[in-house]
Amino acid sequence: MKKANRPSPHLLALALVSLLTGACGSEEIFPSFDELALLQELHTLTKRPPVDSTNRFADDSRAAELGLALFNDKKLSGCGTVACASCHGGEGKTVDTAFAEGCDGHLTARNPPTTLNADYNRWFMWDGRADRLWNQAILPLTNPYEMNSNADIVRARLTEAYATSYQDIFGKTPEETVDGNEVLANVGKLMQAYERKINRTNAPFDEDVRRFIAAVDVSQAQVEADPAFLGLKTYFRKGQCIVCHKGATMSDNLFHNIGVKDTTPSAAGQYVAMQPMLDWPFNAAGRYSDNRTGLDATRLPAMQLDLQNKRTEMEGAYKTPTLRNIALTGPYMHTGELVTLGDVVDFYDKGGEPASAFTGVKTSTIVELKLTTEERQSLIHLLESMTGTQQ
Ligand code: HEC
Ligand code: HEC
Repeated sequence: MKKANRPSPHLLALALVSLLTGACGSEEIFPSFDELALLQELHTLTKRPPVDSTNRFADDSRAAELGLALFNDKKLSGCGTVACASCHGGEGKTVDTAFAEGCDGHLTARNPPTTLNADYNRWFMWDGRADRLWNQAILPLTNPYEMNSNADIVRARLTEAYATSYQDIFGKTPEETVDGNEVLANVGKLMQAYERKINRTNAPFDEDVRRFIAAVDVSQAQVEADPAFLGLKTYFRKGQCIVCHKGATMSDNLFHNIGVKDTTPSAAGQYVAMQPMLDWPFNAAGRYSDNRTGLDATRLPAMQLDLQNKRTEMEGAYKTPTLRNIALTGPYMHTGELVTLGDVVDFYDKGGEPASAFTGVKTSTIVELKLTTEERQSLIHLLESMTGTQQ
């Protein structure tokens, strides 16, 4: 494999450093072998999100086309004025305020995440209460504060404006789809087919990481002279960002309590979201899934055990979001409280908020960082370089 075949100036440098310092009390040169492996995973985002067998229309181009029309259709909402695109529009496919406005002037409870690259995620919503992108769409559709809709409104709109293309895809008309839940699930599947295609990959960051890895094979001097050196080193070492924001999506697909200020009734995050997701008829193992015995579905029951055993980890925990396209998607965190990337870095620098400001127990990885001005700047610069190009 690539790692094993790598020529060894790096290894020699490593040996030399440990020899000179007695490997004691000194900082290991960056990147170590383990860190190099993690670096290699960072720049390999596939052009398309992984296959989702729970939606048999996920990669159907007719479904994507109808999904696009529905994503922008305000008449799917109960109030007639709110579409998915109202809160997931513009370059960043989100809003630039902490909360977004749904039907009748209601504000959302949390910051809308971007729908860019959404189907690379394992979980959806900040608290993970949806396990597939298609079932996720049912939540804003039926949420009274967002689109305030229901199966009857949706079916009537489909009949009015999209009956032919709907029938072409599903083999029956919206009116013949008598189960209201099936109508909602079908619309979700169309939304997913569209959303899966809206990705931004290939960021300057990817180029920087590739060049940086190539420098490792040349010399440690070349590594340290690389413009990305300080940013990456801070991301890996002092900042510990790589612990959670890892892999090609820059997310571990897990949930953590990092101490973001939140004392609202829903502040318990993943801990209160999981049981409803497991009981939900729309989940990957439920009757509306197109692959009820697939891996996604069979993993769900195991999570019931997590719920019993891991309260401390789950309470106040939120999904590690992707950092791709992060410069386009502010403000930040599930509360939208942090306005700029500088604010985010300062939040981590101080080790999150004090315990009284949020629910649950902060994970031990989040501690005061004591970043220098240069380290702070280099991290911000690194985050800014993660904006990809539209596919
Ligand atoms: C009124 C604003 C609003 C509308 C309308 C809206 N959303 Fe959202 N969206 C949000 C908010 C807020 C969240 C985060 C909610 C949470 O985590 O509790 C979200 C989350 C999402 C996510 C999860 C992304 C992730 O990474 O977890 C996706 C995907 C999404 N919305 C797609 C849609 C689709 C599709 C529609 C239309 C059916 C839609 N949204 C309508 C505000 C909105
Ligand atoms: C222990 C895991 C963990 C570590 C370590 C970590 N993060 Fe995060 N990050 C998260 C989670 C979880 C969230 C969402 C938290 C929330 O909203 O409550 C987040 C949110 C963010 C956001 C906001 C994303 C958005 O869409 O709003 C940015 C930017 C970010 N992190 C960057 C960093 C940087 C830079 C570092 C290193 C200094 C870092 N993170 C370290 C887990 C982590």
